[in-house]
Amino acid sequence: MKNKRILVIIFVCAALCVYAAKPLLLEEPTLKSVLSSKFLIGVALNSAQITGCDTNAVKIIKRHFNSVVAENCMKCQAIHPEENRYDFRLADKFVKFGEDNNMFIIGHCLIWHSQLALWFCVDKNGENVSPEILKTRMKNHIYTIVGRYKGRVKGWDVVNEAIMEDGSYRRSRFYEILGEDFIPLAFQYAHEADPDAELYYNDYNMHATGKRNAVVKLVNEMKTKGLRIDAVGMQGHLGMDYPILKDFEQSILAYASTGVNVMITEWDMSALPAVNHTANISDTLAYKKVLNPYPDFLPDSVSKRWNSKMADYMNLFIKYSNVISRITAWGVSDGDSWKNGFPVRGRKDYALLFNRKYQPKEFVKKLLKEPLKLDRDK
Ligand code: G3I
Repeated sequence: MKNKRILVIIFVCAALCVYAAKPLLLEEPTLKSVLSSKFLIGVALNSAQITGCDTNAVKIIKRHFNSVVAENCMKCQAIHPEENRYDFRLADKFVKFGEDNNMFIIGHCLIWHSQLALWFCVDKNGENVSPEILKTRMKNHIYTIVGRYKGRVKGWDVVNEAIMEDGSYRRSRFYEILGEDFIPLAFQYAHEADPDAELYYNDYNMHATGKRNAVVKLVNEMKTKGLRIDAVGMQGHLGMDYPILKDFEQSILAYASTGVNVMITEWDMSALPAVNHTANISDTLAYKKVLNPYPDFLPDSVSKRWNSKMADYMNLFIKYSNVISRITAWGVSDGDSWKNGFPVRGRKDYALLFNRKYQPKEFVKKLLKEPLKLDRDK
């Protein structure tokens, strides 16, 4: 009888231990796990992350993200610096990193006026080349890069930042030489080089009405011509006071109305005041303080506002997850962000999802703790 009682006690204790240990056995939530039913959650990688030097960032990337894009190493200047010379060293490592970690790999970007190698659009005298020569150069560039990563890079930012806020075409050399045709041509070449790759048009300030209308028109025209275009990338370079959320929402709806997906491709939010270059501040020190107001840490009040605004945007993305197929943060932690050097060098900004100690920001913690509760009011 006594033995039986001891056995029962042992059994109950063992059951209690298993029950108590159960939560510990469960996987901690990650961004990619809590958002898995909504969209891909991606991040831009810099060279220290691609090469594995920034081990803290690499841990975060592997843990939280299921898509990667190269922040810089696939841009023309880096990958194709001279007409007969490509440099694939970093791009190859980037693609391997994505494959090793089962990530959806994005190539950024094939045709862009900025970070364009000097030789690309001009002859030896610096004069614009003929339309035929530029077409050949674009074709070679796109065929070579897309062809090299065929079947491995799943989607390409084919053309980047070609339309202005008022809806006019940017007067880039591509436009000067080929007119509006350079965009459909780039998409045609990319599709020929890898018929299975997704192809995107990517741009900033995509909430602006003029740009919105022009991009919608562009996408519709390309579809009418039978060209492949899978998504419009809305770069999400936000500020604390811009854009107006409603305008951003209107644009999501407008781009989705063409039948392609929408992607939030370069997500960050500067916590610093917008720069007013015409401000009349005679005291340089005072001006520096105005431009770089939080050199030590972000005050609580500002941090709260930043987190609440980022949560508003995440709510918006979740609300439209039927048409949004990917969100990509433009960097891992605050120290990585291009915003520390733009539009003024040497500022300390707080633009990304993880802080300089690689800890998640408050709105990210909330998202991880209460999966998709952010969209409670949907
Ligand atoms: O590679 C050189 C390196 O050799 C040199 O030692 C170093 C010294 O400053 O500069 C390095 O190049 C910098 C490069 O980033 C890599 O760090 C360039 O100066 C710098 O201008 C470049 O900035 C990038 C910028 O695009 C221009 O290409 C930012 O990191 C990158 O975040 C930013 O990303 C763009 C998107 O591609 C398109 N949409 C807008 C977005 C923000 O501008």
